[in-house]
Amino acid sequence: MEVRSVMITGANRGIGLEFVRQFVKLPNPPSFVFATYRNENTLQDLIDIQKKHDETHIVLIKMDVSKKSEIENAKKIVEETVGEKGLNLLINSAGIATFLGFPEITEEDMLFNFTINTIGPVMVLQVMFPLLKIAAAQKTSGMSVSRAAAINISSTKGSLNELIDGQPKDWLKVFGYRTSKAALNMAMRVVALTIKDQGILVVNMCPGWVKTDMGTDQATLEPSESISAMLKTFSNLNESHHGTLLDRNGNTIPF
Ligand SMILES: NC(=O)c1ccc[n+]([C@@H]2O[C@H](COP(=O)([O-])OP(=O)(O)OC[C@H]3O[C@@H](n4cnc5c(N)ncnc54)[C@H](OP(=O)(O)O)[C@@H]3O)[C@@H](O)[C@H]2O)c1
Repeated sequence: MEVRSVMITGANRGIGLEFVRQFVKLPNPPSFVFATYRNENTLQDLIDIQKKHDETHIVLIKMDVSKKSEIENAKKIVEETVGEKGLNLLINSAGIATFLGFPEITEEDMLFNFTINTIGPVMVLQVMFPLLKIAAAQKTSGMSVSRAAAINISSTKGSLNELIDGQPKDWLKVFGYRTSKAALNMAMRVVALTIKDQGILVVNMCPGWVKTDMGTDQATLEPSESISAMLKTFSNLNESHHGTLLDRNGNTIPF
């Protein structure tokens, strides 16, 4: 895998931060990593990585995925930096999870989950799409992460297949999260089929249960394990994976 430019949303902590950490350590690291954050006070880890790795230009961009003006502004920064080579890879990692089940669920809670987990990634992809198209046009055939791709960090929690009767009742208490990730999986399938002739790979990927603020320290995987598995999988992605939901090792998850 040789990716010249990658944009990672929600890169100041958790899975997004670990992607930045591991991308800059690749044998052929990207020339540009666009790492998005919301709050300047949360940038220390990214700044530490920036200081240690000068082969990659890490560009820090303030971007709330629910604010169209900030997404548009981010596009301008990316466009000016990557120039005529375009943007190779968008990783939609920013996300939230709340713990409310039925019948406690509220309209506000569902809207919050859908705004950040479903609409956010779609809007970011929509705005970055012209830059991904420029990158895709540099090659004539095949789909790959090195050419042009949007990887959406989704979840098996958004798979209808995965949720069967008899599982712990607590697993039903992430109502807004589950429904918004199911919608994300469908939204990106629709995008994938719509743009299938344009050389931009679209894949949804579940990282596993990862020790982050969202995953909690009860989770089974260290961020380093999850992200190294995902990066290995990225190298093998091609048109056969377009529009699918995969686990971190590249196995298809029915949704
Ligand atoms: N951890 C797991 O076990 C697990 C499992 C399956 C899927 N996932 C998915 O993996 C992704 C990353 O999760 P994580 O575990 O890294 O969570 P996390 O540690 O809670 O980090 C969430 C990230 O998303 C950002 N974010 C939240 N709301 C945002 C908004 N409105 N605009 C822009 N950024 C926003 C946060 O920024 P702030 O610091 O500014 O809040 C933070 O950078 C999510 O999409 C999640 O659903 C995680």
